[in-house]
Amino acid sequence: MKIISIANQKGGVGKTTTAVNLGSALQIAGNKVLLIDLDPQANLSSYLGFEKIGQYDNPTISHLMMSCVTGMEVYAQDCIYHNDTNNLDFIPSDINLANADYYLIQAVAREKVLKRILANECFQTYDYIIIDCLPSLGILLTNALTASDGLIIPVQTQKFALDGLTMLNNIVQQVKDAVNEKLELIGVLATMVDNTNMSKSVLEQLSEKYGDRLFDTKISKSVTAANSSEQQKALTLTTSKLGKEYLELGAEVAKRCGK
Ligand SMILES: Nc1ncnc2c1ncn2[C@@H]1O[C@H](COP(=O)(O)OP(=O)(O)OP(=O)(O)O)[C@@H](O)[C@H]1O
Ligand SMILES: [Mg+2]
Repeated sequence: MKIISIANQKGGVGKTTTAVNLGSALQIAGNKVLLIDLDPQANLSSYLGFEKIGQYDNPTISHLMMSCVTGMEVYAQDCIYHNDTNNLDFIPSDINLANADYYLIQAVAREKVLKRILANECFQTYDYIIIDCLPSLGILLTNALTASDGLIIPVQTQKFALDGLTMLNNIVQQVKDAVNEKLELIGVLATMVDNTNMSKSVLEQLSEKYGDRLFDTKISKSVTAANSSEQQKALTLTTSKLGKEYLELGAEVAKRCGK
């Protein structure tokens, strides 16, 4: 089993789109995949239709994470939902996850809460668990990185794209040094690539900075991404260019994960 975080503290770079479509690509290739929404904005949850099926009391990742502090009994199995359209299992999020910092400060070994949750037997049958991180550096991100084998960083090939990557690399290094030696950078993914000089220049800089860790697959800029989340159907299930690119990404990730 491989646990992969999709992370970049910069907002709107394509993390959620990548989590859903990479998950779908790996599922289509025959893997059992679980997606975890670790963002209080809960965009992945709505991409997978959770708003529709979810009622207020349906347990989410925030119930699971906070149960370690509150002592409230929450079963991991009860937090796993299935989306039929995309044939994907997922754990949704909700706005209460925004209070995680406050709750987790009281937890023992607070960066290991998610890791402890994922040690549960019900997660061991998955080939891939993909964690969609929130756009910030903090306790939820360190939980994701501590629980993960690998990390994928989507980078939007637009102005200011590389700002903040040093800070992210710094956190990754700290997690590696302190709690999770095996954490590796699976790859950096260029997203929203277009024909502009800006896009070309960012691609060059990424190639220089990350070398062979930059995925060969590039994700183009296309309005089909927004349509896909609106229609709650992965791009990989359509004939779109982005769908094809995400299928290619799936193959590249599997290869890098030795599968
Ligand atoms: N390749 C793409 N081309 C054009 N638009 C895209 C592409 N990928 C994603 N988008 C759109 O850009 C917006 C941000 O994408 P997404 O939600 O995946 O980013 P994010 O990094 O998860 O954002 P956040 O940091 O808020 O969680 C969405 O409206 C999405 O539909
Ligand atoms: Mg997101």
